[in-house]
Amino acid sequence: MRYYSLEGGRPLSGEIVVQGAKNSVLPILAASILSGETCRIQHCPRLSDVDTTVEILRHLGCRVRWEGDALLVDASCVTRWDIPDSLMRRMRSSVIFLGAILSRCGQAEISYPGGCELGPRPIDLHLAALRALGADVRERGGSISCSGGNMQGTEIVLSLPSVGATENAILAACGAKGTTVISNAAREPEICDLQEFLCAMGADVRGAGSSTVVVEGRRVLHGCDHRVIADRIVAATYLAAAAGVGGHICLQQVTPGHLSTVTTALMQAGCRIHCSGDEISLESSGKLRSVAPVRTSPYPGFPTDAQAVLMAALCRSRGTTVFVENMFENRYRHVSELRRMGADVRPEGRVAVVCGVEQLHGAQVNATDLRGGAALVVAGLQAQGTTRIGDIHHIRRGYADIVGDLTQLGAAIRDDT
Ligand code: UD1
Repeated sequence: MRYYSLEGGRPLSGEIVVQGAKNSVLPILAASILSGETCRIQHCPRLSDVDTTVEILRHLGCRVRWEGDALLVDASCVTRWDIPDSLMRRMRSSVIFLGAILSRCGQAEISYPGGCELGPRPIDLHLAALRALGADVRERGGSISCSGGNMQGTEIVLSLPSVGATENAILAACGAKGTTVISNAAREPEICDLQEFLCAMGADVRGAGSSTVVVEGRRVLHGCDHRVIADRIVAATYLAAAAGVGGHICLQQVTPGHLSTVTTALMQAGCRIHCSGDEISLESSGKLRSVAPVRTSPYPGFPTDAQAVLMAALCRSRGTTVFVENMFENRYRHVSELRRMGADVRPEGRVAVVCGVEQLHGAQVNATDLRGGAALVVAGLQAQGTTRIGDIHHIRRGYADIVGDLTQLGAAIRDDT
Protein backbone atom coordinates (compact mmCIF):
# COMPACT_ATOMS: atom_id res chain seq x y z
CA MET A 1 0.00 0.00 0.00
CA ARG A 2 1.39 3.41 -0.95
CA TYR A 3 0.95 6.52 1.17
CA TYR A 4 1.88 10.15 1.06
CA SER A 5 3.48 11.26 4.34
CA LEU A 6 3.48 14.96 5.12
CA GLU A 7 4.97 17.07 7.90
CA GLY A 8 2.85 20.20 8.09
CA GLY A 9 3.66 23.79 8.89
CA ARG A 10 6.34 24.66 6.33
CA PRO A 11 5.59 27.71 4.19
CA LEU A 12 5.84 27.16 0.44
CA SER A 13 8.11 29.20 -1.78
CA GLY A 14 9.50 29.07 -5.29
CA GLU A 15 8.42 28.65 -8.88
CA ILE A 16 6.85 25.77 -10.69
CA VAL A 17 5.72 24.93 -14.22
CA VAL A 18 2.16 23.58 -14.14
CA GLN A 19 1.53 20.25 -15.92
CA GLY A 20 -0.71 19.86 -18.96
CA ALA A 21 -4.44 19.58 -18.33
CA LYS A 22 -5.86 16.11 -17.75
CA ASN A 23 -9.30 17.20 -18.90
CA SER A 24 -7.80 18.48 -22.18
CA VAL A 25 -5.46 15.68 -22.96
CA LEU A 26 -8.02 12.87 -22.60
CA PRO A 27 -10.47 14.18 -25.25
CA ILE A 28 -7.53 15.29 -27.44
CA LEU A 29 -6.06 11.78 -27.38
CA ALA A 30 -9.47 10.37 -28.28
CA ALA A 31 -9.72 12.94 -31.10
CA SER A 32 -6.33 11.87 -32.47
CA ILE A 33 -7.98 8.81 -34.06
CA LEU A 34 -9.83 11.12 -36.45
CA SER A 35 -6.59 11.70 -38.32
CA GLY A 36 -5.09 9.11 -40.64
CA GLU A 37 -1.61 10.40 -39.79
CA THR A 38 0.57 10.97 -36.74
CA CYS A 39 -0.34 13.60 -34.15
CA ARG A 40 2.23 14.89 -31.69
CA ILE A 41 0.67 16.00 -28.43
CA GLN A 42 3.08 17.99 -26.30
CA HIS A 43 3.03 18.88 -22.60
CA CYS A 44 1.17 15.65 -22.02
CA PRO A 45 1.01 14.84 -18.28
CA ARG A 46 2.09 11.36 -17.20
CA LEU A 47 -1.04 10.24 -15.39
CA SER A 48 -2.67 6.89 -14.81
CA ASP A 49 -5.70 8.15 -16.81
CA VAL A 50 -3.36 8.94 -19.71
CA ASP A 51 -1.90 5.41 -19.45
CA THR A 52 -5.42 3.99 -19.67
CA THR A 53 -6.16 6.18 -22.70
CA VAL A 54 -2.96 4.94 -24.37
CA GLU A 55 -4.10 1.35 -23.72
CA ILE A 56 -7.42 2.13 -25.39
CA LEU A 57 -5.67 3.70 -28.40
CA ARG A 58 -3.40 0.65 -28.75
CA HIS A 59 -6.39 -1.66 -28.47
CA LEU A 60 -7.99 0.25 -31.35
CA GLY A 61 -4.88 -0.34 -33.46
CA CYS A 62 -2.98 2.93 -33.02
CA ARG A 63 0.75 3.07 -32.54
CA VAL A 64 1.53 5.27 -29.56
CA ARG A 65 4.85 6.28 -28.07
CA TRP A 66 6.30 8.86 -25.71
CA GLU A 67 8.97 11.29 -26.90
CA GLY A 68 9.95 13.41 -23.90
CA ASP A 69 6.74 15.03 -22.66
CA ALA A 70 5.01 14.45 -26.01
CA LEU A 71 2.77 11.55 -26.98
CA LEU A 72 2.90 10.53 -30.62
CA VAL A 73 -0.25 8.84 -31.86
CA ASP A 74 -0.19 7.19 -35.26
CA ALA A 75 -3.81 6.40 -36.08
CA SER A 76 -3.20 5.37 -39.70
CA CYS A 77 -4.41 1.87 -38.95
CA VAL A 78 -7.50 1.80 -36.69
CA THR A 79 -8.63 -1.82 -36.77
CA ARG A 80 -11.30 -2.01 -34.05
CA TRP A 81 -14.26 0.04 -32.90
CA ASP A 82 -14.89 -1.44 -29.47
CA ILE A 83 -13.50 -0.71 -26.00
CA PRO A 84 -13.34 -3.65 -23.58
CA ASP A 85 -15.28 -3.40 -20.35
CA SER A 86 -12.09 -3.63 -18.24
CA LEU A 87 -10.75 -0.40 -19.80
CA MET A 88 -14.12 1.38 -19.70
CA ARG A 89 -14.47 0.70 -15.98
CA ARG A 90 -11.03 2.10 -15.18
CA MET A 91 -11.83 5.58 -16.37
CA ARG A 92 -15.21 7.17 -16.77
CA SER A 93 -14.03 9.70 -19.32
CA SER A 94 -13.31 6.89 -21.79
CA VAL A 95 -16.91 7.56 -22.86
CA ILE A 96 -15.44 10.40 -24.94
CA PHE A 97 -14.14 7.74 -27.34
CA LEU A 98 -17.72 7.02 -28.40
CA GLY A 99 -18.00 10.12 -30.62
CA ALA A 100 -14.43 9.75 -31.88
CA ILE A 101 -14.73 6.06 -32.84
CA LEU A 102 -18.12 6.66 -34.45
CA SER A 103 -16.64 9.50 -36.48
CA ARG A 104 -13.68 7.43 -37.64
CA CYS A 105 -15.26 3.99 -38.09
CA GLY A 106 -18.98 4.67 -38.58
CA GLN A 107 -19.71 2.36 -35.67
CA ALA A 108 -18.70 1.99 -32.04
CA GLU A 109 -19.25 -0.38 -29.16
CA ILE A 110 -18.45 0.38 -25.52
CA SER A 111 -19.75 -0.72 -22.17
CA TYR A 112 -21.66 1.65 -19.94
CA PRO A 113 -19.26 3.69 -17.79
CA GLY A 114 -21.70 3.57 -14.85
CA GLY A 115 -21.53 5.61 -11.68
CA CYS A 116 -18.38 6.85 -9.98
CA GLU A 117 -17.16 8.19 -6.68
CA LEU A 118 -18.87 11.56 -7.29
CA GLY A 119 -22.31 9.93 -7.52
CA PRO A 120 -24.37 8.97 -10.57
CA ARG A 121 -22.98 10.41 -13.80
CA PRO A 122 -25.48 9.79 -16.57
CA ILE A 123 -24.55 9.94 -20.27
CA ASP A 124 -28.04 10.59 -21.62
CA LEU A 125 -26.98 13.90 -23.18
CA HIS A 126 -24.03 12.23 -24.95
CA LEU A 127 -26.33 9.62 -26.45
CA ALA A 128 -29.05 12.16 -27.36
CA ALA A 129 -26.44 14.18 -29.29
CA LEU A 130 -25.34 11.12 -31.26
CA ARG A 131 -28.96 10.18 -31.97
CA ALA A 132 -29.66 13.74 -33.17
CA LEU A 133 -26.87 13.26 -35.73
CA GLY A 134 -28.67 10.16 -36.97
CA ALA A 135 -26.64 7.48 -35.21
CA ASP A 136 -28.54 4.34 -34.24
CA VAL A 137 -27.71 3.93 -30.54
CA ARG A 138 -28.68 0.69 -28.79
CA GLU A 139 -28.26 0.07 -25.08
CA ARG A 140 -28.31 -3.59 -24.10
CA GLY A 141 -27.06 -5.44 -21.02
CA GLY A 142 -24.67 -2.68 -19.95
CA SER A 143 -23.23 -2.13 -23.40
CA ILE A 144 -23.86 0.58 -25.94
CA SER A 145 -23.55 -0.05 -29.64
CA CYS A 146 -23.81 2.73 -32.17
CA SER A 147 -23.86 2.74 -35.91
CA GLY A 148 -23.61 6.03 -37.68
CA GLY A 149 -22.13 5.59 -41.12
CA ASN A 150 -24.58 8.18 -42.51
CA MET A 151 -24.58 10.80 -39.79
CA GLN A 152 -25.90 14.18 -40.95
CA GLY A 153 -25.13 17.59 -39.53
CA THR A 154 -27.99 18.98 -37.48
CA GLU A 155 -28.89 21.27 -34.59
CA ILE A 156 -28.09 19.78 -31.17
CA VAL A 157 -29.49 21.55 -28.14
CA LEU A 158 -27.93 20.33 -24.90
CA SER A 159 -30.36 20.61 -22.00
CA LEU A 160 -27.39 21.48 -19.77
CA PRO A 161 -23.85 22.47 -20.71
CA SER A 162 -22.18 19.11 -20.10
CA VAL A 163 -18.44 19.12 -20.85
CA GLY A 164 -18.31 15.48 -21.95
CA ALA A 165 -21.50 15.67 -24.03
CA THR A 166 -20.20 18.79 -25.81
CA GLU A 167 -16.94 16.99 -26.60
CA ASN A 168 -18.70 13.85 -27.81
CA ALA A 169 -21.05 15.94 -29.97
CA ILE A 170 -18.13 17.84 -31.53
CA LEU A 171 -16.19 14.64 -32.26
CA ALA A 172 -19.20 12.86 -33.76
CA ALA A 173 -20.14 15.97 -35.78
CA CYS A 174 -16.67 15.90 -37.38
CA GLY A 175 -17.76 12.62 -38.99
CA ALA A 176 -21.24 13.83 -40.00
CA LYS A 177 -22.05 15.28 -43.42
CA GLY A 178 -22.70 19.02 -43.40
CA THR A 179 -23.11 21.58 -40.62
CA THR A 180 -23.80 20.83 -36.97
CA VAL A 181 -24.73 23.60 -34.55
CA ILE A 182 -24.37 22.70 -30.86
CA SER A 183 -26.33 25.06 -28.61
CA ASN A 184 -25.94 25.43 -24.84
CA ALA A 185 -22.46 23.95 -25.25
CA ALA A 186 -20.09 23.85 -22.29
CA ARG A 187 -17.64 26.77 -22.38
CA GLU A 188 -14.73 25.24 -20.47
CA PRO A 189 -11.17 26.09 -21.66
CA GLU A 190 -10.66 22.37 -22.34
CA ILE A 191 -13.34 22.57 -25.07
CA CYS A 192 -11.35 25.41 -26.68
CA ASP A 193 -8.22 23.25 -26.50
CA LEU A 194 -10.04 20.38 -28.21
CA GLN A 195 -11.23 22.79 -30.93
CA GLU A 196 -7.66 24.05 -31.45
CA PHE A 197 -6.38 20.51 -31.78
CA LEU A 198 -9.11 19.55 -34.26
CA CYS A 199 -8.51 22.69 -36.32
CA ALA A 200 -4.76 21.96 -36.35
CA MET A 201 -5.69 18.59 -37.92
CA GLY A 202 -7.70 20.41 -40.60
CA ALA A 203 -11.19 20.20 -39.05
CA ASP A 204 -13.64 23.08 -39.29
CA VAL A 205 -14.85 23.74 -35.73
CA ARG A 206 -15.77 27.23 -34.50
CA GLY A 207 -17.25 28.88 -31.45
CA ALA A 208 -15.67 26.89 -28.59
CA GLY A 209 -15.58 29.03 -25.48
CA SER A 210 -19.04 30.38 -26.33
CA SER A 211 -22.29 28.46 -25.92
CA THR A 212 -22.66 27.79 -29.66
CA VAL A 213 -20.19 25.52 -31.41
CA VAL A 214 -20.42 25.01 -35.17
CA VAL A 215 -18.84 22.01 -36.90
CA GLU A 216 -18.53 21.41 -40.65
CA GLY A 217 -18.10 17.66 -40.88
CA ARG A 218 -16.31 15.20 -43.13
CA ARG A 219 -13.07 17.12 -43.64
CA VAL A 220 -10.04 14.95 -44.38
CA LEU A 221 -7.86 15.31 -41.29
CA HIS A 222 -4.09 15.14 -41.24
CA GLY A 223 -1.42 14.88 -38.55
CA CYS A 224 -0.49 17.86 -36.38
CA ASP A 225 1.55 19.20 -33.51
CA HIS A 226 -0.33 20.51 -30.49
CA ARG A 227 0.60 21.67 -27.00
CA VAL A 228 -1.93 20.94 -24.27
CA ILE A 229 -3.03 23.89 -22.08
CA ALA A 230 -2.00 24.08 -18.43
CA ASP A 231 -4.11 22.25 -15.89
CA ARG A 232 -6.15 24.95 -14.15
CA ILE A 233 -7.21 22.56 -11.38
CA VAL A 234 -3.63 21.54 -10.58
CA ALA A 235 -2.79 25.27 -10.57
CA ALA A 236 -5.73 25.91 -8.22
CA THR A 237 -4.46 23.12 -5.94
CA TYR A 238 -1.00 24.64 -5.58
CA LEU A 239 -2.45 28.13 -5.05
CA ALA A 240 -4.76 26.74 -2.35
CA ALA A 241 -1.82 24.89 -0.77
CA ALA A 242 0.31 28.04 -0.50
CA ALA A 243 -2.69 30.11 0.60
CA GLY A 244 -3.46 27.71 3.44
CA VAL A 245 0.03 27.17 4.86
CA GLY A 246 1.47 30.53 3.80
CA GLY A 247 4.39 31.48 1.60
CA HIS A 248 5.14 33.00 -1.78
CA ILE A 249 4.91 30.92 -4.95
CA CYS A 250 4.84 31.57 -8.66
CA LEU A 251 3.05 29.29 -11.12
CA GLN A 252 4.44 29.39 -14.65
CA GLN A 253 3.00 28.58 -18.07
CA VAL A 254 -0.58 28.98 -16.92
CA THR A 255 -3.50 31.02 -18.28
CA PRO A 256 -4.50 33.30 -15.39
CA GLY A 257 -7.92 34.01 -16.95
CA HIS A 258 -8.85 30.33 -16.57
CA LEU A 259 -8.48 30.67 -12.80
CA SER A 260 -10.17 33.99 -12.13
CA THR A 261 -12.95 32.69 -9.86
CA VAL A 262 -10.38 30.77 -7.79
CA THR A 263 -7.96 33.69 -7.51
CA THR A 264 -10.83 36.05 -6.62
CA ALA A 265 -11.82 33.79 -3.71
CA LEU A 266 -8.21 33.53 -2.53
CA MET A 267 -7.80 37.31 -2.66
CA GLN A 268 -10.97 37.68 -0.58
CA ALA A 269 -9.38 35.30 1.89
CA GLY A 270 -6.45 37.70 2.24
CA CYS A 271 -3.87 36.44 -0.30
CA ARG A 272 -1.98 38.83 -2.53
CA ILE A 273 -2.14 37.62 -6.10
CA HIS A 274 -0.39 39.04 -9.12
CA CYS A 275 -0.96 37.83 -12.68
CA SER A 276 1.30 38.72 -15.56
CA GLY A 277 1.43 37.02 -18.94
CA ASP A 278 1.43 33.30 -18.28
CA GLU A 279 2.34 33.53 -14.59
CA ILE A 280 0.42 33.78 -11.34
CA SER A 281 2.17 34.57 -8.10
CA LEU A 282 0.55 34.28 -4.70
CA GLU A 283 1.69 35.56 -1.33
CA SER A 284 -0.06 34.45 1.82
CA SER A 285 0.59 34.90 5.53
CA GLY A 286 -1.15 31.57 6.14
CA LYS A 287 -3.77 33.37 8.23
CA LEU A 288 -6.81 33.51 5.98
CA ARG A 289 -10.29 34.88 6.55
CA SER A 290 -13.60 33.39 5.41
CA VAL A 291 -14.99 34.27 1.98
CA ALA A 292 -18.43 34.91 0.42
CA PRO A 293 -20.41 31.73 -0.40
CA VAL A 294 -18.67 29.55 -2.98
CA ARG A 295 -21.17 28.13 -5.48
CA THR A 296 -19.85 25.68 -8.03
CA SER A 297 -21.18 26.04 -11.56
CA PRO A 298 -20.16 25.43 -15.17
CA TYR A 299 -17.31 27.59 -16.54
CA PRO A 300 -16.83 30.52 -16.17
CA GLY A 301 -18.28 29.91 -12.69
CA PHE A 302 -16.37 28.44 -9.78
CA PRO A 303 -15.13 24.95 -10.82
CA THR A 304 -16.50 21.99 -8.92
CA ASP A 305 -13.04 20.44 -9.24
CA ALA A 306 -11.52 23.26 -7.16
CA GLN A 307 -14.17 23.15 -4.42
CA ALA A 308 -12.37 20.62 -2.21
CA VAL A 309 -8.93 22.26 -2.35
CA LEU A 310 -10.34 25.72 -1.55
CA MET A 311 -12.30 24.21 1.33
CA ALA A 312 -9.10 22.66 2.70
CA ALA A 313 -7.29 26.01 2.43
CA LEU A 314 -10.06 27.67 4.47
CA CYS A 315 -10.20 25.12 7.31
CA ARG A 316 -8.06 27.36 9.54
CA SER A 317 -9.52 30.67 8.33
CA ARG A 318 -11.11 33.24 10.62
CA GLY A 319 -14.92 33.04 10.24
CA THR A 320 -17.38 30.85 8.38
CA THR A 321 -17.58 30.01 4.67
CA VAL A 322 -20.54 28.35 2.96
CA PHE A 323 -19.96 26.04 -0.01
CA VAL A 324 -22.80 25.09 -2.37
CA GLU A 325 -22.00 22.18 -4.70
CA ASN A 326 -24.26 22.43 -7.73
CA MET A 327 -22.55 20.02 -10.13
CA PHE A 328 -22.27 16.59 -8.50
CA GLU A 329 -24.27 14.94 -5.73
CA ASN A 330 -21.51 13.23 -3.87
CA ARG A 331 -18.73 15.74 -3.73
CA TYR A 332 -18.16 16.15 0.02
CA ARG A 333 -16.61 12.76 0.72
CA HIS A 334 -13.33 14.41 1.73
CA VAL A 335 -15.14 16.23 4.56
CA SER A 336 -15.10 13.29 6.97
CA GLU A 337 -11.33 12.96 6.36
CA LEU A 338 -10.79 16.70 6.94
CA ARG A 339 -12.72 16.35 10.20
CA ARG A 340 -10.27 13.65 11.31
CA MET A 341 -7.63 16.36 11.06
CA GLY A 342 -9.62 18.64 13.36
CA ALA A 343 -11.49 20.66 10.72
CA ASP A 344 -14.98 21.90 11.55
CA VAL A 345 -16.90 21.31 8.31
CA ARG A 346 -20.58 20.41 8.33
CA PRO A 347 -22.09 19.07 5.13
CA GLU A 348 -25.85 19.03 4.61
CA GLY A 349 -26.96 17.95 1.14
CA ARG A 350 -25.45 20.29 -1.41
CA VAL A 351 -24.21 22.72 1.26
CA ALA A 352 -21.14 22.51 3.47
CA VAL A 353 -20.32 25.04 6.16
CA VAL A 354 -16.68 25.55 7.07
CA CYS A 355 -16.05 27.13 10.49
CA GLY A 356 -12.38 27.98 10.72
CA VAL A 357 -10.43 26.35 13.57
CA GLU A 358 -7.18 27.48 15.21
CA GLN A 359 -5.17 24.43 14.19
CA LEU A 360 -5.36 21.22 12.17
CA HIS A 361 -3.51 18.15 13.38
CA GLY A 362 -1.88 15.36 11.43
CA ALA A 363 -3.90 12.16 11.05
CA GLN A 364 -4.20 8.96 9.06
CA VAL A 365 -6.66 9.74 6.25
CA ASN A 366 -7.69 8.23 2.91
CA ALA A 367 -8.18 9.89 -0.45
CA THR A 368 -11.82 9.36 -1.40
CA ASP A 369 -11.59 10.68 -4.96
CA LEU A 370 -9.16 12.68 -7.09
CA ARG A 371 -9.80 16.26 -5.95
CA GLY A 372 -10.87 15.23 -2.46
CA GLY A 373 -7.49 13.50 -2.18
CA ALA A 374 -5.69 16.68 -3.27
CA ALA A 375 -7.63 18.55 -0.58
CA LEU A 376 -6.13 16.24 2.05
CA VAL A 377 -2.67 17.20 0.80
CA VAL A 378 -3.60 20.90 1.09
CA ALA A 379 -4.84 20.31 4.66
CA GLY A 380 -1.89 18.11 5.62
CA LEU A 381 0.56 20.87 4.65
CA GLN A 382 -1.08 23.11 7.28
CA ALA A 383 -1.47 20.47 9.99
CA GLN A 384 0.69 20.12 13.08
CA GLY A 385 2.56 16.82 12.94
CA THR A 386 2.44 13.99 10.43
CA THR A 387 -0.39 13.25 8.03
CA ARG A 388 -0.51 9.94 6.18
CA ILE A 389 -2.75 9.81 3.14
CA GLY A 390 -3.78 6.41 1.81
CA ASP A 391 -5.56 5.40 -1.43
CA ILE A 392 -3.32 7.79 -3.34
CA HIS A 393 -4.14 6.09 -6.65
CA HIS A 394 -7.07 8.53 -6.77
CA ILE A 395 -4.66 11.48 -6.62
CA ARG A 396 -2.31 9.97 -9.19
CA ARG A 397 -5.16 9.92 -11.73
CA GLY A 398 -4.83 13.69 -12.07
CA TYR A 399 -1.50 14.88 -10.64
CA ALA A 400 1.59 13.87 -12.59
CA ASP A 401 4.00 14.59 -9.73
CA ILE A 402 2.36 16.27 -6.75
CA VAL A 403 5.16 15.06 -4.46
CA GLY A 404 7.92 16.41 -6.72
CA ASP A 405 6.10 19.71 -7.31
CA LEU A 406 5.41 20.39 -3.64
CA THR A 407 8.91 19.27 -2.63
CA GLN A 408 10.28 21.81 -5.12
CA LEU A 409 8.19 24.42 -3.28
CA GLY A 410 9.69 23.42 0.05
CA ALA A 411 7.02 21.07 1.44
CA ALA A 412 7.97 18.02 3.50
CA ILE A 413 6.03 15.36 1.57
CA ARG A 414 7.12 11.80 0.72
CA ASP A 415 5.77 8.99 -1.35
CA ASP A 416 5.96 6.01 1.10
CA THR A 417 5.64 2.52 -0.20
C1 UD1 B 1 -15.99 17.08 -16.72
C2 UD1 B 1 -14.63 16.94 -16.10
C3 UD1 B 1 -14.74 16.88 -14.58
C4 UD1 B 1 -15.53 18.08 -14.07
C5 UD1 B 1 -16.86 18.22 -14.81
C6 UD1 B 1 -17.62 19.48 -14.45
C7 UD1 B 1 -13.39 15.69 -17.76
C8 UD1 B 1 -12.68 14.42 -18.11
N1 UD1 B 1 -14.01 15.71 -16.57
O1 UD1 B 1 -16.72 15.90 -16.38
O2 UD1 B 1 -13.43 16.90 -14.03
O3 UD1 B 1 -15.79 17.91 -12.70
O4 UD1 B 1 -16.63 18.24 -16.23
O5 UD1 B 1 -16.85 20.60 -14.68
O6 UD1 B 1 -13.34 16.66 -18.49
N2 UD1 B 1 -24.94 15.24 -16.91
C9 UD1 B 1 -26.15 14.64 -17.21
N3 UD1 B 1 -26.23 13.89 -18.36
C10 UD1 B 1 -25.18 13.72 -19.21
C11 UD1 B 1 -23.94 14.34 -18.88
C12 UD1 B 1 -23.86 15.09 -17.73
O7 UD1 B 1 -27.11 14.77 -16.48
O8 UD1 B 1 -25.32 13.03 -20.23
C13 UD1 B 1 -24.82 16.06 -15.67
C14 UD1 B 1 -23.83 15.45 -14.67
O9 UD1 B 1 -24.44 14.48 -13.87
C15 UD1 B 1 -23.39 16.67 -13.89
C16 UD1 B 1 -23.43 17.80 -14.93
O10 UD1 B 1 -24.21 17.30 -16.01
O11 UD1 B 1 -24.32 16.96 -12.88
C17 UD1 B 1 -22.07 18.21 -15.46
O12 UD1 B 1 -21.37 17.08 -15.91
P1 UD1 B 1 -20.36 17.16 -17.14
O13 UD1 B 1 -20.11 18.58 -17.51
O14 UD1 B 1 -20.86 16.24 -18.20
O15 UD1 B 1 -19.05 16.55 -16.50
P2 UD1 B 1 -18.06 15.54 -17.15
O16 UD1 B 1 -17.89 15.84 -18.61
O17 UD1 B 1 -18.43 14.16 -16.77
